[in-house]
Amino acid sequence: MSDNAEIKELANFIRDKCKNIVLMLGAGVSTAAGIPDFRSPKTGLYANLARLNLPYPEAVFDIQFFLKNPVPFYTLAHELYPGKFRPTLTHSFIRLLHSHNLLSLCCTQNIDTLERRAGVPSEKIVEAHGSFATQRCVRCRTPFDDAKMKDFVMNYAQKKLIPRCGKKGCGGLIKPDIVFFGESLPPSFFSSQSVVSKADLILVIGTSLTVQPFASLSLYPVPRALINLDLVGDFGMRESDEEREFILLGQCDDIVRELCRELGWEEELMKLWEE
Ligand code: OAD
Repeated sequence: MSDNAEIKELANFIRDKCKNIVLMLGAGVSTAAGIPDFRSPKTGLYANLARLNLPYPEAVFDIQFFLKNPVPFYTLAHELYPGKFRPTLTHSFIRLLHSHNLLSLCCTQNIDTLERRAGVPSEKIVEAHGSFATQRCVRCRTPFDDAKMKDFVMNYAQKKLIPRCGKKGCGGLIKPDIVFFGESLPPSFFSSQSVVSKADLILVIGTSLTVQPFASLSLYPVPRALINLDLVGDFGMRESDEEREFILLGQCDDIVRELCRELGWEEELMKLWEE
């Protein structure tokens, strides 16, 4: 667990210096909800995909592979489909930052939509890797009905049916609007860069910072803090004359709770989370 002095310092920094906080989130924020992350050595998704017979683990989210063989993705989508999971304490913390008028932007790589479910307003969220919220045909780009999609994914384990475009003469595969490897990030990601560059603090939580271009947001020369199980990216390498950085290692829910205690927000946090 992280040392308490660093948490106190971050709380003071937030209290005294911050009006515009930008969050950068990854799968570690949702592990306490029961959703595995990708790269943790034993529990991560990529370490547990042998059953899908993939040429390499990331192929499950690779657009060229999906076009040839969508079965591994749909097998996984059935297991990861939103609706089964509840936001974590860290998701409630993001909502709390918003209600204290401190949140400029929540940039997330997660596709589980738990930020929205925690009550963070959609105009403050950039889903950089898309989400399961909408879907369309990979060939003609026609949107596909949400309820029908839910039905296909929820029943995939029994029926093994993959949705296809109903437009006459098309029949293309339907894919959720998740950004696969080989696809570009949404325009909202690129237009958010100016907000990130003006932040008083970039708070990086639960990400290995391995996937670009998302990871590069952490490089803006503004103060930043890492809340994560392990040291990632170039955290710990800033020179003393560069912008301030805070490094808080441990379970994000524990750290966030302690941070809220220091800020006098703990009761509010717990109330929000229990809602
Ligand atoms: P990773 O699995 O790469 O990294 C998760 C990070 O969170 C690791 O550093 C873990 O140690 C840390 N972590 C796990 N549980 C935690 C907890 N309870 N508290 C604090 N830290 C915790 O996941 P991402 O960085 O999100 O892309 O992965 C980035 C992208 O790679 C994903 O969006 C996905 C994947 O391929 C696509 O699907 C396109």
